[in-house]
Amino acid sequence: MSIVIAGRSLVLVGFMGSGKSSVGRELAKRWNFRFVDTDTMIRHKYDLSIPDIFAKHGEDFFREQEYQVLVRLRGISSTVIATGGGIVTQPRNLPLLRALGPVVWLCADQTTILDRVGKSTHRPMLNQANPEESVTRLLKERAPLYHQAADLRIETSGLTHREVADRVVS
Ligand code: S3P
Repeated sequence: MSIVIAGRSLVLVGFMGSGKSSVGRELAKRWNFRFVDTDTMIRHKYDLSIPDIFAKHGEDFFREQEYQVLVRLRGISSTVIATGGGIVTQPRNLPLLRALGPVVWLCADQTTILDRVGKSTHRPMLNQANPEESVTRLLKERAPLYHQAADLRIETSGLTHREVADRVVS
């Protein structure tokens, strides 16, 4: 484990399909850290799936929940935290993310993202008539936000989750 992480947490940000949860679990296992996923925390709080939360309460409500989760996580140590792809869209989240520990941006090219999530049905942000157009637009909007939030960027296209975890570690 890097000296940078010791006693702190590690935060993973990145677009849908960038592998935050799988890589996060792998890292937590290697470091004997806890693993948490902000989407899972929100799902458990309401006992609803993410699409159901969006359908019932709307996106603004979901974004408020993301913020509340980060407030709840404040001060947590020795934990790998995977976040939802839109967590960087709220400026108020950035200082909270950075206070948790180093922030790593898992990024992937558009073709890889589309391969991974193009047909997914459990991602409300992509449940549109044209998911490809949504991915293109959101990637363009969010790339500068991930860049701003993160201490480190790791390209994941063509890599397995283990290989990505190796890169984070090194
Ligand atoms: C979202 C990403 C999802 C989830 C929600 C909204 C987004 O998480 O938080 O559907 O706005 O990009 P993943 O990045 O884990 O798919």
